[in-house]
Amino acid sequence: MAVDLLLGLQWGDEGKGKIVDVLTNNYDIIARFQGGPNAGHTLEFDGIKHVLHTIPSGIFHKNAINVVGNGVVIDPVIFKKELDNLEQFQLDITKTLLISRKAHLILPTHRLLDAASEASKGKAKIGSTLKGIGPTYMDKTGRNGIRVGDLEMSDWEEKYRALADKHESMIAYYDVQLEYDLEDLEKDFFEAVEVLKKLTFIDSEEYLYQARKNGKKILAEGAQGSLLDIDFGTYPFVTSSNTTAAGACTGLGIAPNQIGEVFGIFKAYTTRVGSGPFPTELFDSDGETMGRVGNEFGATTGRPRRCGWLDLVALKYAVQVNGVTALMMMKGDVLSGFDTIKVCTAYVYKGKEITHLPYNIEPENVTAVYSEMNGWQQDLTKMDHIDQFPDSLNAYIAFLEKELEVPIKIVSVGPDRTQTIHR
Ligand code: IMP
Repeated sequence: MAVDLLLGLQWGDEGKGKIVDVLTNNYDIIARFQGGPNAGHTLEFDGIKHVLHTIPSGIFHKNAINVVGNGVVIDPVIFKKELDNLEQFQLDITKTLLISRKAHLILPTHRLLDAASEASKGKAKIGSTLKGIGPTYMDKTGRNGIRVGDLEMSDWEEKYRALADKHESMIAYYDVQLEYDLEDLEKDFFEAVEVLKKLTFIDSEEYLYQARKNGKKILAEGAQGSLLDIDFGTYPFVTSSNTTAAGACTGLGIAPNQIGEVFGIFKAYTTRVGSGPFPTELFDSDGETMGRVGNEFGATTGRPRRCGWLDLVALKYAVQVNGVTALMMMKGDVLSGFDTIKVCTAYVYKGKEITHLPYNIEPENVTAVYSEMNGWQQDLTKMDHIDQFPDSLNAYIAFLEKELEVPIKIVSVGPDRTQTIHR
């Protein structure tokens, strides 16, 4: 059985959690391959709204196994909180949630380093979620990190101390005011580590290899979005992992020739949280309407998301880099009520019109060129079949499919599991 991938194609917050939850019935295993608690995957069902940060979005399906892969970074404190929030659902977590021994741990001092680094950048700050993601991946590539598997070794606390001490001297290096009580933070950390240790640790690449060989269906769940990829995103305003398809190979130990479908998720418009260029960003009442109707606030930080029209130049680029085989369009319902809908089909870059994403998309280099289409007025949220779609929505979908050269297989018309229309 091939492994299917599910990825965000914009700057994150596309609605991956909802779609993984919807698709989990078709899979035996859901595996997260990168990122950490900077992610906020929101799921809604039976009148309940639930946000997951590190735990894969298949967790509410009793028969699905959820794997946290080696590419993920885990903060035991946040992980424990996630587990506490799951208690009400009476899930058999020790059987259905498996953690890779090779996943790296976020220490309290990683979070402090993140805060110190951002504070030192002043206006050039990334707008990080401050969950310690960047510093943890830096320790991973710098070969200093502490991994989940280390918790099974007797000397892990010594390793911890050496690394935390090093971090403290690095924090002092930043010339910023940072108030913290490390003893307090460490108390929570060590308590949470004990909870983490009760879970099942696995050699996830071997586990997934055997599962695949035995015919199990696996869905790899990405976090953040392609434009936040450390290599292909809008660097330096990106996260610190590969959010694109290749990240699933390195973040789970899956060979490229074992990848099957690549599901790409995008919103019918665009949002971005944190700093960085955004060519189709709106600063008018249209942007305000998208934010309000779409409830565009970060699921992890609560920050308002910046909103703008759909950017097909950036979306095409993401489809290309990931090899997307099927698209899923989210939040079409949020665009109901606009007389005209705009789609960016090209950029003016250094005086010339181009249709590919250039190296630099800062506002002084790039102006968006738009096509205009008729909007739709109907409320989509109660619809359950494509036959009910207004003509202008069908025209919007057909236009995007033609431009992107990939079929749109799912149109989501609301946050609930049930508000999902298959095409
Ligand atoms: P970090 O990954 O927390 O360091 O944040 C780096 C950048 O990625 C910031 O602009 C964040 O706002 C953004 N970011 C990180 N995780 C997410 C996410 O899950 N959704 C949307 N943006 C994110």
